[in-house]
Amino acid sequence: MNSRLDAALNDTPKSIADYLRSLFNSENFDATISAQQFEELLVLSGLSDDELRICLLPFAAAYSYAPISEFYVGSIVRGLSGRLYFGANMEFIGAQMSQTVHAEQCGISHAWMKGETGIIDITVNYSPCGHCRQFMNELTTANELKVQLPERDEMSLQQYLPDSFGPADLDIDARLMDGKTKSYQTHESDPLVLKAVEALNYSHAPYSENHSGVALRLADGSVYLGSYAENAAFNPSLPPLQVALAQILMADKSFEQIDTAALAELSAGKISNLDGTQSTLDALNPDITFTYISL
Ligand code: THU
Ligand code: ZN
Repeated sequence: MNSRLDAALNDTPKSIADYLRSLFNSENFDATISAQQFEELLVLSGLSDDELRICLLPFAAAYSYAPISEFYVGSIVRGLSGRLYFGANMEFIGAQMSQTVHAEQCGISHAWMKGETGIIDITVNYSPCGHCRQFMNELTTANELKVQLPERDEMSLQQYLPDSFGPADLDIDARLMDGKTKSYQTHESDPLVLKAVEALNYSHAPYSENHSGVALRLADGSVYLGSYAENAAFNPSLPPLQVALAQILMADKSFEQIDTAALAELSAGKISNLDGTQSTLDALNPDITFTYISL
């Protein structure tokens, strides 16, 4: 078990500490809690739904990678399936500040890459910044989404973002997490490049049409994918590398284990994720082998 998860167990109610310890110790624990497990925790703890989510926040924040701020943010995102996904903030020394991933973006991209098509609620240990509120306004469920903070009443995203700007203002029907896929193909045979194309086909890029995806292979042979999550306000877009790194963080693996990277994007796209991907990978570790393919 991650030692920070272990430390957070000391502050959790006794009624659920044993259950959580065995969950976190289980080999298939992947920083998610199924609807059924959450139900069992509700019964054991006697807490209400929101109280239990708040009580679980330190476990999400335990994943935070924040070497710049040392400010540990955790999020818990509930997908439409009822499963809960942890997320945490990520900062990269030596990279551009804009490459930072907020806990909300991490949790949402975690749920998205594991196949969710919308989120019911998000619980965060600090108030979501303006950038995150805008990022969430791109979601399929932006109009229903609820936000829960410790010691606050639940509020909707739209209450946190009055007079919101979003995809409809640009006449765009696509939404982040809508599950729609593209079917671009390549003649390349490199398996990691094929994985990057798979991630490209799952991306949300209705503004630039630069569908793009990243695949990262670790030294242990495991592969993590990231699809580009574009935003109507452009700047809050989450690049595909960030989404892939979020999956590595939530798999409790280290960025030092990244051995090979592939980025696939469309040559007809109106922007490119090449420079940002290369420079952040370089800041992480200049020895990572990088392949780029433009379709
Ligand atoms: N942070 C979040 O994760 N979510 C927010 O909405 C507020 C800020 C993170 C970003 C950065 O890693 C650190 O907190 C300091 O801003
Ligand atoms: Zn934020």
